[in-house]
Amino acid sequence: MVSADMSGELSGRVAIVTGGASGIGAAAAALLAGVGATVIVADLQEAKAGPGRFVALDVASEDSWKALLADVLGREGRLDIMVNNAGISGGSGNIETTTVENWQKVQAVDSEGVFLGSKYAIEGMKKTGPGKPAIKGSIVNISSIAGLIGSAGPTAYTAAKGAVRLLSKSVALYCAEQKYDIRCNSVHPGGVDTAIFNPLWQMVGHEQGKAFIGARHPIGRMSEASELGEVVLFLASDRSSFVTGAEIVADGAITSGLMRRSLLAPP
Ligand SMILES: NC(=O)c1ccc[n+]([C@@H]2O[C@H](COP(=O)([O-])OP(=O)(O)OC[C@H]3O[C@@H](n4cnc5c(N)ncnc54)[C@H](O)[C@@H]3O)[C@@H](O)[C@H]2O)c1
Repeated sequence: MVSADMSGELSGRVAIVTGGASGIGAAAAALLAGVGATVIVADLQEAKAGPGRFVALDVASEDSWKALLADVLGREGRLDIMVNNAGISGGSGNIETTTVENWQKVQAVDSEGVFLGSKYAIEGMKKTGPGKPAIKGSIVNISSIAGLIGSAGPTAYTAAKGAVRLLSKSVALYCAEQKYDIRCNSVHPGGVDTAIFNPLWQMVGHEQGKAFIGARHPIGRMSEASELGEVVLFLASDRSSFVTGAEIVADGAITSGLMRRSLLAPP
């Protein structure tokens, strides 16, 4: 749902949304386009529907990033917003069961993919602005609650999402130091109803799985993808102009602490 008072707010801006063909990325792409941004959906798979021009991208391949940037600067002529959202869960392996192959695959997509996305975002934004201090943009990196608190597994995903959290702060500080007006923030969703849970939906059914995961959130439900899209939209727009190096948590209070008032409270 686009707030009426944001209509046209991002017109003239060009946004790349990685993993924009599904879930959180598709919701973010729709909201960005809804307020006037030109959206590039950069994904391994083409979206069944939705706004934006599709460009094939494997976030884990530097060559793929170079081709995407050349394509966007050639056609759209600028880059203002980068949403590094593409990701995989990589399964639920723990430290004993995770193979080196699984570890490397998850780091390549979920961690290195965001490193490459941030690096090429800055390159594109520098080619857009006339020079310091007019180099401007917003980088939004999708981490997870798994990047804030540990878990016994999935080990590879937890490590990759933790890397995204501090990478984002490093990028924010570097851009500030360089006097680029490029902000960089991380987003930490709790459970969001998207295709990333397909293996679980196939096991227990969508509604049952959703209720099961929802019950683990203090708020009592999972998030819809559009609720995370709204967070991305805020960080992408000038409404968050003083927000950089921040971690925005949208998790139904799952990382807030204990539901019980005290460890001493009677059961
Ligand atoms: N759904 C959740 O509960 C949840 C929670 C926390 C964080 N996240 C994160 O949110 C992001 C989006 O996930 P989602 O839930 O929307 O999942 P999703 O599976 O619906 O969408 C992920 C998209 O990323 C694309 N993708 C995967 N590997 C890619 C690659 N190498 N190159 C380019 N595109 C690739 C997929 O094709 C897909 O379109 C991920 O980074 C995920 O880790 C999701």
